[in-house]
Amino acid sequence: MRTDRPSARPEDVFSRRASSYATSKAHDDKVTLSWLVDAASPSKDDAVLDVGTGAGHTALALAPRVRRVEAIDVTEEMLEEGRKLARKRGIDNVRFLIGNAMSLPYADRSFDIVTCRRAAHHFTDLERALAEMARVLKVGGRLVIDDRSVPEDEEVDSLINRLDVLHDPSHVRDRSACEWSELVRSAGLELLGLRPYRKHMPLSHFTDMVDPPTESAMRDLVLNASERAKKAVGFEVSDGCIMLDNFFVLISAIKTQ
Ligand SMILES: C[S@@+](CC[C@H](N)C(=O)[O-])C[C@H]1O[C@@H](n2cnc3c(N)ncnc32)[C@H](O)[C@@H]1O
Repeated sequence: MRTDRPSARPEDVFSRRASSYATSKAHDDKVTLSWLVDAASPSKDDAVLDVGTGAGHTALALAPRVRRVEAIDVTEEMLEEGRKLARKRGIDNVRFLIGNAMSLPYADRSFDIVTCRRAAHHFTDLERALAEMARVLKVGGRLVIDDRSVPEDEEVDSLINRLDVLHDPSHVRDRSACEWSELVRSAGLELLGLRPYRKHMPLSHFTDMVDPPTESAMRDLVLNASERAKKAVGFEVSDGCIMLDNFFVLISAIKTQ
């Protein structure tokens, strides 16, 4: 089983960035959140587990449609932001708790739905995390994952992953749709849907939380990329601002046995 070791722990990075994730438009993006909610097919009696919940955007989007949500994360400061958001929205069926994706603190077959949004690229042992998510799902339960991704292109894969490590040293790896499809099958789940999508965003979205030398290294990486890679990531400079595509994938799967 592969275990990747990033140079920082997510809890060290996210404890400093917690309040900005609570208000982040990219993380509270209603359109892609609605895709995830639809893919989960929630119903009133469902018990949901949201893994790597952060400030709770996914847990809070699902909460009005289900019975209860357990929202877990390794970063207490993120959970505290989630609790504040829940109070602000008058939502009282979400419990925010410390928990690690690689060792879920729940019995087998406890949940109808497991979600994990924009967190899996931080997991040091993704195979184990997926096995855990499959374990806690009931038979017939759905797993829905939304994560940062890369196209099937070695050069662009390397460029995007290097940018992401600079943006966040707890980043492990963004995987392609093909890698995801294999991972989900290896966890013993049946793949229901795989939807790659892109968002054209300013590079500054990723550089505004890093120090000036790292910002400059990120700009250089993009500016010095090959013309082919630049085209593949939709590179453009608009009003002096570097814009490029960010790649994501929405995966849904079911536990059949
Ligand atoms: C980019 S945030 C995403 C938060 C949220 N799911 C969303 O969509 O807005 C990633 C979160 O994953 C958490 N995380 C990273 N590794 C984790 C692990 N092994 N187990 C649980 N949470 C983890 C981080 O603490 C952080 O809050």
